[in-house]
Amino acid sequence: MAKYTIAVYAGDGIGIEVTAEAVKILTAIAHKFGFSLDLVQFPWGHRYWKEHGKVVPDDYLKVLNDFSAIYLGAVGDPANVPDHITLIPLIEMRQKFDQYACIRPAKLFHGVNCPLANMKPEDIDLLVIRENSEGEYVDAGGLFKIETSDGAALQTAIHTRKGVERIIRFGFEVARKRSDKHLTLVTKSNALKFSMVFWDQILDIVRKDYPDVKADKYHVDAMCMALVQKPQIFDVIVCSNMFGDIISDLTGAIAGSIGLAPSSNLNPERKFPSLFEPVHGSAPDIAGKGIANPVAAIRSAAMMMDFLGETEASSLIENVIAAYLSEGTILSRDLGGNSSTSEVGSEIERRIVNL
Ligand code: NAD
Ligand code: IPM
Ligand code: MN
Repeated sequence: MAKYTIAVYAGDGIGIEVTAEAVKILTAIAHKFGFSLDLVQFPWGHRYWKEHGKVVPDDYLKVLNDFSAIYLGAVGDPANVPDHITLIPLIEMRQKFDQYACIRPAKLFHGVNCPLANMKPEDIDLLVIRENSEGEYVDAGGLFKIETSDGAALQTAIHTRKGVERIIRFGFEVARKRSDKHLTLVTKSNALKFSMVFWDQILDIVRKDYPDVKADKYHVDAMCMALVQKPQIFDVIVCSNMFGDIISDLTGAIAGSIGLAPSSNLNPERKFPSLFEPVHGSAPDIAGKGIANPVAAIRSAAMMMDFLGETEASSLIENVIAAYLSEGTILSRDLGGNSSTSEVGSEIERRIVNL
């Protein structure tokens, strides 16, 4: 029997609520497919902070290193702990575990209301592929005379040849397997004349190896407009770290709700554990009310099972979610319903068990 050990870092706010539903689904799916899932919960984040004055133990990366995968709910408790502290482990896991390929699918499901006029489900079915290990998120910079009126802050991005080339190549490999075979690079080479011109040049080198894939590029500002006006023209969208962060909230919204948007943070070489989490954050505005949509979290769990090789189990979860959404009952509030987080989770669980 296949056996997987999963580190579960539920985190803060709705991260804890949606993770409980993802755990329900993972438990049901393991039972159905007959593999063993050892889900080990780590109550890190604001709960750990209260006791220890830090959000994770010092050796947390060592603790996580031997797991098959890491599942994360969401982190951030801005009312009690500054965000740039709570979020350090998330960025550090992505960098230290070399999870350089972040995949954030956006698909408009039947039965989900699109905020854009006249969109059909087939019009929005794309993947944002975000460089996840360097770029704008590298700690390169510092503060100068910050306590005085002469204060200055310097924050520099680092884009390496290795880092940019491997994510563009990863994007082409993914695009090649899809029916549209179309890759769009998000750039800003009209203003960022070092970093983004570098990205453009590497695109031009790598594309020669993929003559079967149509490749183009959009400046990030025009990309935001095009995603609202004509999302149907996009297929695989490759972005630098920060552009990918921004674009993936937008693609989540146009596909109906960020509460549906999953993601994976992959170390494709499998030298380190990969990390799976919804695109959304801890949503302090709705935390504790039991109204968050758990579908993004559940779909992230499905992406995890796919990466671990349980492709049938993963497709079954996705298919059950598609069927559930198309019927339009038992929906959470972001989708216009009034069902609770656990009612949605239990409904998806019920459908899996009854299949
Ligand atoms: P957010 O994604 O938490 O929330 C943005 C909006 O979307 C809110 O109105 C929220 O209620 C809504 N929303 C998010 N997820 C939802 C869901 N599952 N169901 C229904 N509605 C949902 O972004 P934010 O408000 O900018 O950030 C809140 C905190 O989360 C901050 O501390 C931030 O730093 C952190 N954050 C963490 C992650 C992560 O853990 N991966 C991602 C983004 C933000
Ligand atoms: C995301 C989040 C993170 C990011 C934050 C919490 C550091 O917004 O995963 O999209 O910016 O990458
Ligand atoms: Mn984000």
